[in-house]
Amino acid sequence: MHGADPHLVLGLHRSRHHRDILTAALDLGVTALDTAAPYLGFRSHAVLAETAADLLPKFALSTKVGFFPSAGGAEHSLDPVRLRLAVERAARELGREPDTVLLHNPERSLAGLSTPDGRTLLGNACAALADAARDGLCGAWGVASWDTRSLEMVQVDDLPSPDLLMVRAGFLVGIDLLDAINVLRTAWQPGETWGMSPFGGGHRKVWEEIDPRPFLRPLHEDLSRTQAAFRVSFHLPSASAMAVGTDDPGHLAQLVQTLGAEVDTAAVSQYLRALHGHRQS
Ligand SMILES: NC(=O)c1ccc[n+]([C@@H]2O[C@H](COP(=O)([O-])OP(=O)(O)OC[C@H]3O[C@@H](n4cnc5c(N)ncnc54)[C@H](OP(=O)(O)O)[C@@H]3O)[C@@H](O)[C@H]2O)c1
Repeated sequence: MHGADPHLVLGLHRSRHHRDILTAALDLGVTALDTAAPYLGFRSHAVLAETAADLLPKFALSTKVGFFPSAGGAEHSLDPVRLRLAVERAARELGREPDTVLLHNPERSLAGLSTPDGRTLLGNACAALADAARDGLCGAWGVASWDTRSLEMVQVDDLPSPDLLMVRAGFLVGIDLLDAINVLRTAWQPGETWGMSPFGGGHRKVWEEIDPRPFLRPLHEDLSRTQAAFRVSFHLPSASAMAVGTDDPGHLAQLVQTLGAEVDTAAVSQYLRALHGHRQS
């Protein structure tokens, strides 16, 4: 499955939420949209419903819960009651049940806890989302984690297994985190893995110094370095879909254009071996 039919998810983390990028996405065949309760200053759901209610049914829609408005801006919580209310609120604000609801960066509430305490907290939060999916408040549930290392530490083996795990992806992710993601996946067995943030939210100058095109097979001289970096991100780690952000329909078209390119997985393996070797030396 991984890489066989790569799938682009338009992520709204940094988006202005203008209607034109949503219509451009649909025109390009991009039918998956990822947002979160706190995006756009906690207004993402409401603004989508206000400006694009007619478009939303055309997308598979994922959102995230776990951050809540607070006096200081946002606070994180894995309280199952608050999570349940947040899922209900998301459906209300969006005017439809999301296809997937993800636990948003659960590591934020796990730092510093003992393994048993962390496991109980995370397990109850997962159970709250699994119950919400069972009750029809969303189609499926999952976990989105920027840094999976504390999830691995709470030993997830016997916790409910998510339908979807969303993790950082691409050349800007260090080998320690890539390894941790793979350990977590082996232990937790999520139904699907999606990558996110393949450009680390920006960092355009990196691609002036590094050319990822040799990782494509055959070489695609028609594709830019940025396009190649995006396509290879589906293999760092292996993921069936990639959540990427853009407000520029031209950029989105460039990303869609890469989906048919093939990645040289032997070159990716060699790259990972080199990173492991460098770490040991
Ligand atoms: N913990 C979490 O749950 C979490 C955390 C981070 C991200 N995410 C998910 O991942 C999505 C993407 O993350 P992100 O937006 O932070 O990072 P990203 O996708 O790595 O980077 C977005 C940036 O890349 C630029 N870009 C996109 N396509 C380009 C192209 N073809 N050429 C040149 N530049 C291009 C965009 O600029 P332009 O607008 O100018 O194209 C934008 O500034 C989020 O929206 C969200 O869905 C989830």
